[in-house]
Amino acid sequence: MAVLKKIRSRWLSQTPEPPPPTDYPAGAANVVSLVPDLRYDVRPLSISQLDECWRLDQRCFVDGEAYSRDTFEYLLTAPESVSYRVVTQNGSMVGFVIGLMEPDHTGHITTVGVAPDHRRRHLAKRLMLKVEEGFRRRNIRIVRLEVRALNVSAQQLYLSLGYTVTQRLPKYYSNGGDGLLMVKSLE
Ligand SMILES: CC(C)(COP(=O)(O)OP(=O)(O)OC[C@H]1O[C@@H](n2cnc3c(N)ncnc32)[C@H](O)[C@@H]1OP(=O)(O)O)[C@@H](O)C(=O)NCCC(=O)NCCS
Repeated sequence: MAVLKKIRSRWLSQTPEPPPPTDYPAGAANVVSLVPDLRYDVRPLSISQLDECWRLDQRCFVDGEAYSRDTFEYLLTAPESVSYRVVTQNGSMVGFVIGLMEPDHTGHITTVGVAPDHRRRHLAKRLMLKVEEGFRRRNIRIVRLEVRALNVSAQQLYLSLGYTVTQRLPKYYSNGGDGLLMVKSLE
């Protein structure tokens, strides 16, 4: 997840080279997509779900890095927001992803989370593919995100989707933990 107050200046001062071309053919991310679990539905995430999303975020990020309600309000009302949620059949939100279109015309995935009791069902993967599709529709071709160096499960998720680590971000998180900048080309 991104530390919002830090990332914009860091990104603008140290924009990495776009990642080298991979062996993935265009649209490979969709090949990764598995048969959707019909118990869940992916829908747009908007300000109407502010409190539900904020509460879910607190269940997902138990390391003191959960976003404040104000941050969610900002993220969900920003015109550049490209955000989705995954809901169960009774409409409860069990996952979310928040993306932003940045001024440099990159896509920035600021956070993604899935409720602990719904993990390992490819819900995060579905959310990531959905936000990438949203970026593609807006003519965005480079997506970036930050992840804790110790968050191996999230890194596995991103690697499985074709993201590559382009930079280490020393002491990026407020508890002094390092971050990794990961980037994917949507070409
Ligand atoms: C990271 C997180 C979003 C993954 O959600 P999820 O819905 O369980 O992930 P998926 O089921 O879509 O996983 C897709 C792939 O990612 C990798 N992955 C996901 N969780 C993993 C874990 N705990 N250990 C190892 N690999 C993992 C696997 O490759 C997995 O594919 P597989 O199940 O076929 O092996 C979820 O664990 C979470 O909310 N964590 C807390 C918040 C967080 O860290 N968010 C990321 C911030 S950068």
